[in-house]
Amino acid sequence: MSSNPFSLSFGKKPVEYIERFDLKQTVLTDLMSANPTSNVFMFTGVRGSGKTVMLTQISRELATEDDWIVVGLNPTRDMLTSLSAKLYAKQPVYALLENAEIDLSAFGFGLKIKNQPPVVDIETVLEMMFEKLAQAGKRVLITVDDVSNRLTVQQFISAFQMFIRDEAPLYLLMTGLYENVSDLQNSKDLTFLYRAPKYYMTPLNLGAMAHSYQTSLQVTPALAQEMANLTMGYPFAYQVLGYLVFQTQATSIATVLPQFDQIMQELVYEKIWSELSGNDRKVITVIAQGESRVKDIRTKVGFDSSKMSVYRKRLLEKGIVVSNEYGHLILALPRFGEIVR
Ligand SMILES: Nc1ncnc2c1ncn2[C@@H]1O[C@H](COP(=O)(O)OP(=O)(O)OP(=O)(O)O)[C@@H](O)[C@H]1O
Ligand SMILES: [Mg+2]
Repeated sequence: MSSNPFSLSFGKKPVEYIERFDLKQTVLTDLMSANPTSNVFMFTGVRGSGKTVMLTQISRELATEDDWIVVGLNPTRDMLTSLSAKLYAKQPVYALLENAEIDLSAFGFGLKIKNQPPVVDIETVLEMMFEKLAQAGKRVLITVDDVSNRLTVQQFISAFQMFIRDEAPLYLLMTGLYENVSDLQNSKDLTFLYRAPKYYMTPLNLGAMAHSYQTSLQVTPALAQEMANLTMGYPFAYQVLGYLVFQTQATSIATVLPQFDQIMQELVYEKIWSELSGNDRKVITVIAQGESRVKDIRTKVGFDSSKMSVYRKRLLEKGIVVSNEYGHLILALPRFGEIVR
């Protein structure tokens, strides 16, 4: 048997992949334009919605452009130090600095130039690098996957804010869960983040998904469509369902449903559930029991309208519920309700 084209692992571009042309092109076109609308872009969405995969795709595409240098940073480390080391390791940057009269020996970069005092401050090192890069017509994209409001990120963002004030050719693409991204955006020292565009990971196209199932699994068009509908466009569910049907050669969804539920529960839903607040859970439990009108949900959980509107908004923004019809809410994640129950 050939190897399974579907994958249960996170953060890696799978073999069977549904393009999100809209989102990807919007961000790429903006970044590559002469005057991008922003220096910072953010992707947010629930776990398993494809943030890391999207970030990786955009990084790869930009990295093939001559005038772009792409650097990925780990948000849990000293980000400025990593940035300077990673930039320095890039051939064009190294070449530019070698010709510049900068002594970076204090950072272990091995460049030592006579008659120049060594640079000892990391922000100064970076400013010099950006100046050289700007002169050479280069732009730098920094990517940070899975940000949260922690010290390393705060320090980095405040330095970033200063660099772009000095017109460094610098762009930042970050991903994060809604609660983490908005926590960071609302942090009072990082006000410039507040206006940064935030893109939500929307559901994958169900038609494209059905087509992919049909060709990769050789199932009937009807089964392919039924499978796509079951996923509700949620990327991880698309992988799990494809994986199971490939593995078992099932000809109906019912055969693989117990395994589907188990994998979804163990690999994402337990984690998502554990990260929700008690009130979030109350609302979801009522929706899982079949209630969809906001008014009825509110009565059952016993919230007043302003409290309900807070939770409604939060759950929508986190990507846990959707509102396809005015005044109604349904769960956005496939079989989340059944599994919660
Ligand atoms: N466009 C896509 N088409 C098909 N499958 C996708 C797509 N994007 C992501 N996936 C699949 O969805 C799963 C989750 O993707 P990814 O790791 O990017 O999610 P994430 O949003 O970064 O999650 P987390 O918040 O836990 O880091 C992976 O199994 C991946 O293969
Ligand atoms: Mg991720």
